Amino acid sequence: MQEQEDTDIIFKPIYKVLILICIAFIVLGALAIYFYGPNQSQVEITEVDSELIRDGIHVRTGLVEAGGLQTVITNCTTCHSSKLIIQNRMGVEQWNSTIRWMQKTQGLWELGANQKVIVNYLVKNYPPLEKGRRQALTNIDWYRLNE
Ligand code: HEC
Repeated sequence: MQEQEDTDIIFKPIYKVLILICIAFIVLGALAIYFYGPNQSQVEITEVDSELIRDGIHVRTGLVEAGGLQTVITNCTTCHSSKLIIQNRMGVEQWNSTIRWMQKTQGLWELGANQKVIVNYLVKNYPPLEKGRRQALTNIDWYRLNE
């Protein structure tokens, strides 16, 4: 019994020190991982105000700010992106027939009085582009082909 107590007296402080060293390593390791570990890429989520208008463009949809915009957003951007509208430029009859086609085949609802508002908006802001002929070339630097 006496022997046992002797060893206790010798070892106990050593165990304490060892345990303290272990704890110190664990804490240091945790701190190191916390501060120098894999970068938590800080994704900054900047919320775009869904009604923000900048330079005459409704930022969320990219549509031109003009009378009828809200009607178009409500009726025309639920199934597909507004990009599909922006990249198409048509006259009244073509816009109407596109709408008719979507109503017949894609499940677009009856627009009622809104159809006129929508088509007016579309024709005004997304009319067919007048391409015209290209300008005649000027200042041409002719050169002779070497054979
Ligand atoms: C019920 C769903 C739905 C709604 C609402 C809807 N569309 Fe569409 N639209 C479609 C589908 C489906 C297509 C085909 C998409 C594709 O080709 O990937 C389409 C295609 C189009 C196209 C391209 C047509 C082409 O010839 O390529 C245009 C332009 C368009 N839609 C405009 C509009 C406008 C303007 C409105 C509002 C009046 C509208 N859409 C509302 C379903 C819808």
